[in-house]
Amino acid sequence: MHTRMIGLRLLAATALLAAAVIGCQPDDTHKQDYNPLIDDKTEPEPEKPTDEGLRKEQYRPQIHFTPARNRMNDPNGMVYAEGVYHHFYQYNPKGNDWGNMSWGHATSKDLVHWEEQDVALTRDDLGDIFSGSAVIDKDNTAGFGAGAMVALYTSAGSAQQQSLAYSTDGGKNFTRFSGNPVIRNNDDNLRDPKVFWHEESGKWVMSLAKGWAKGIEFYGSSDLKTWTHLSTFFVPLSGRPDLQWECPDLVRMDYKGGKKWVLIVSVNPGGPILGSGTMYLPGDFDGTTFTADDRDYPLWLDYGMDNYAGVTWSNTGSRLVMLGWMNNWSYAGNVPCSPWRSAMTLPRELKLVEYEGKPLLCSTVVKEIDGIAGSWKEAGSSWESMDAYQLSVKVALDKNSTITLSNDKGQKLVVEVYAADRKIALKRSAATGDTSFNGTFSVPAMQGPLCTEGTEVTLDFFVDQSSVELFTREGTLSMTNLVFPTGIYNHLEVTGAAAQAEIRSLSSIWK
Ligand code: FRU
Repeated sequence: MHTRMIGLRLLAATALLAAAVIGCQPDDTHKQDYNPLIDDKTEPEPEKPTDEGLRKEQYRPQIHFTPARNRMNDPNGMVYAEGVYHHFYQYNPKGNDWGNMSWGHATSKDLVHWEEQDVALTRDDLGDIFSGSAVIDKDNTAGFGAGAMVALYTSAGSAQQQSLAYSTDGGKNFTRFSGNPVIRNNDDNLRDPKVFWHEESGKWVMSLAKGWAKGIEFYGSSDLKTWTHLSTFFVPLSGRPDLQWECPDLVRMDYKGGKKWVLIVSVNPGGPILGSGTMYLPGDFDGTTFTADDRDYPLWLDYGMDNYAGVTWSNTGSRLVMLGWMNNWSYAGNVPCSPWRSAMTLPRELKLVEYEGKPLLCSTVVKEIDGIAGSWKEAGSSWESMDAYQLSVKVALDKNSTITLSNDKGQKLVVEVYAADRKIALKRSAATGDTSFNGTFSVPAMQGPLCTEGTEVTLDFFVDQSSVELFTREGTLSMTNLVFPTGIYNHLEVTGAAAQAEIRSLSSIWK
């Protein structure tokens, strides 16, 4: 309780400071939203999710996963098995606000079309079901059967402890392990277990985030049930001492013909601008200890406001696919969406490239998106309204440019491209649409580096009913943002340098 109060005060202080710096009206309504240990059981019993009549509402994403009803946050238990991508997620089955934390469940065969399944795990005596991961236990190390799907999650009661549940029917039904919790703890700063098999040392490795205590704990196990502490990791984050660490993911990536370890961690309220953000730390892992490269942290995985708690799918071989929660704790409780709240980002493939002699984490939308794409056409200055679309704007980098996306009502999103500085500024101002629901939502200019030395840059905009995800073609920069225009943007203006724009429709995944 004490820790949480301090947490909320820090959150409010940082939000006020950030609001002052970027010129927003301070607003602290978001303080109500993040309250991990309060359980809200006052809402009516759940209705079974159904697509009937739903998913056509104003602001309903057409190419992103949203639950038919109710509130969602972090992706959880991401695992690929027998041709199916499982996506569990933090979910309130009883309402459109944070509470009653459970694991919702959706499945996909192509990472694009999703089918909502029954809720997989709900609160028990040990507490709410917070974030966690799932693995396929091919070799039956745990004894639940070869190929069992084993989920490790945080039981959030009076303390945050780690628990296990397993499924032997492809994620339909889970049995809780009788020996829970598998990692005991006595405070509320240890959560979000992400587990992988470490080949060289022949054991499972778990990363756990330390919340307000900051840093990561690593644990090891031969059977997923008995865990031994391996090491503790922490690096100071420049200019951002007061934020909590959440949702870690330690991955091994291809890099320069070899391999390189990268630790991904979500931090809040210390994102690139304010609120929630995801950082990455390239380094080395020897089976016990993670050592980060000597860099100035944080390095951001995404420079927008709305990509948080992202982790990668387990069991996808060397392909790394990440899904993030497309929202921000600063205003997640207020976004004007009903009867659902929150979408996930588009799934992204992660790659590590060398830039200026150092590893740079790149993200691009998975190629499976082509499955819902129409053919490319010259964009022109306007087009018919669509479910969603991909707009590709190639601009020369000999002078500055301004790219403006707008709709028939004059609501607009502006992106400035600074040629000499090799960066962009995206203006999510009050002109983008509805920003009135929370004073921290409107951001005059969020900036991100292009990380390119070329004479031109291609910017890919994935535009849905309430989001714009912006990438450089190679993924050297990504910027994910919610926007709430009353109609999807369907006009384009580019001024400044020479530019060429193409567009292709992306059809609704709910049809
Ligand atoms: C991150 C997070 C996790 C926690 C979950 C609770 O967004 O705070 O650390 O497990 O959300 O819903």
